[in-house]
Amino acid sequence: MKQRIDGGDDLDSLNLFLPFVKRAMKNQKIFLDSARKYGTPQYILDEDFLVDNVREIKKNFSKDIVGFKLFYAFKSNDLPYMIRLLKEEGVNADVSCMFEMQLALKLGFEKIIYTAPYKSLQELEYAVNSGKIIINIDNVDEFNALCSLCKRLKKSASISFRIRTKNNNWKKFGITNSEFVKLANVAMKDPLLNWTGVHFHKSWNIDAKSYVDGLTEIADCLKENFSHEQLSRLKFIDIGGGLLPFESISVEDGVEMPCSIKQFSDVICSAVKKNIFEKLNINPEIWLEPGRLISSQATSILLTVKATKESESEYIVDGGTNLLGSPMFEEDYFPVVNISAPSEKLTIGKINGPLCDPADHWGKYYFGEKLKNDDLISVLNMGAYTFSTAWRWQRAIPKYVTFSARKGKSVIVKDEESFEDRYSGCKI
Ligand SMILES: Cc1ncc(COP(=O)(O)O)c(C=O)c1O
Repeated sequence: MKQRIDGGDDLDSLNLFLPFVKRAMKNQKIFLDSARKYGTPQYILDEDFLVDNVREIKKNFSKDIVGFKLFYAFKSNDLPYMIRLLKEEGVNADVSCMFEMQLALKLGFEKIIYTAPYKSLQELEYAVNSGKIIINIDNVDEFNALCSLCKRLKKSASISFRIRTKNNNWKKFGITNSEFVKLANVAMKDPLLNWTGVHFHKSWNIDAKSYVDGLTEIADCLKENFSHEQLSRLKFIDIGGGLLPFESISVEDGVEMPCSIKQFSDVICSAVKKNIFEKLNINPEIWLEPGRLISSQATSILLTVKATKESESEYIVDGGTNLLGSPMFEEDYFPVVNISAPSEKLTIGKINGPLCDPADHWGKYYFGEKLKNDDLISVLNMGAYTFSTAWRWQRAIPKYVTFSARKGKSVIVKDEESFEDRYSGCKI
C-alpha cells in the first residue's frame, strides 16, 4: 500500500498510528511518574513490551525451523541494560565494531557474529583472540588481511561470507557470488580458517520477498559450486535483519505498511525449507538478525513543553533531535502524544526542540488536547537508530529509564551525559 502524504492534505494516514497512541495512553501514569521522578528529556524503555515482542518473534520463526536462532543488531540500540535483557531471552549478538564486540563479550554472549564493511587490523585481531567471534567477511582485501593475521598469530578464525545478493544495490556491502565461491575454496584449504556460514542482508523490507529471493539465489549458488559433503559442514545461514516493524509514513514515499511477524515468518520459513533443507539437503541453523524489529517500539522519548508561541501554534520542548542523530521529523512522521491530556484526536501544532537549528523539531501534529506549558509529550517508537546514533551537539545525551508494569519497577539504567563525559580526554 502506497499513498502520498504531503504534510497537510492527507492527515488520515496518521490515524494508522492510533494503536500506538492507545498503548501510550495506557502508560500515561507511568510516563507522568517517570517524568516527575527523573526529569525530562528521557528515553524510556518498556521492558514488558521488549520481552513479549522478542518471544513473539522467536515463537513464530521457531515453530517451523528447529535450528532457528535470533540475533540482535546492537547497532540499532546499544543500551547495555536492554541488551542484557535480550540475552536473558536467549537472543544472540550481531556486532559491527570494537565497542560492540567488547560489550558482547562483557555481557557474556557465546554466539557473536561480526559484520562491517571495514574491520581494522586491531578489530580483526580482537575477534580472532576472543576465540568466539565469527568474522563475517565483507570483501576480498579483508579476507586476505585475515589470512595473514591468522598466520602471524598462529591462531584460527571462524568465518562466514556476506554475499551481496542480486536484488541488493548497495555495492558497498559484501561480495558477489563468484568472489564468494573463490574465497570459500581458498578458506577450505587453509587450516587456520573455519568456514562456518553464509550471510546476506537487505534493509527495509515490508514483506518477505527479498528473503525468498536471497535464499533461492544463495541455495542455487551453493548447490552449483560445492559438494554435499562440503555444504554439510556449514553451521548456519544468516538471512540478515531489515524487517520493518511498523508503518513508515514519509513525505517522500507516503505510507509503507509492513506485513506482520507471522506473515514474514510463514513465507521465510517455507523458503528456508524449500531451498536449504530440501534443495541442498542440509540442516544448518537459520539465523535472523533484526535491529529495529526488536528495539524500536519498546522505547519512547519523554519531553516537556517549556514555551508556547501562541500566535504561531508553535511550542518549544526541552529535548531536541540530538537525541536521534538526524532530523528525522523533517521527512517522516512518528506518533507524538500529549501525555498530560491524551486523546485520539489529532491536533495541529509544531513541536520544536531547543537546538539552534530549524530542522530540530518533533513534527507538526500530535495526538491529544492542545498543548500548554509544562505538558508532558511522549514520542513513540523511538528505540531504533536514535540512542545509538545520538548527536554530540549542544545538549547532553539524556538519561535512559526502564520500567516494567508487571514487576512494578522503574529505574535509571543510563545517566544523563555530564560535563566530564562530554569533554573526557580533551585538553582544557
Ligand atoms: C548486517 C546488518 N544486519 C542487521 C541490520 C539490522 O537492520 P534492521 O535494524 O533494519 O533490522 C543491519 C542494519 O544496518 C545490518 O547492516
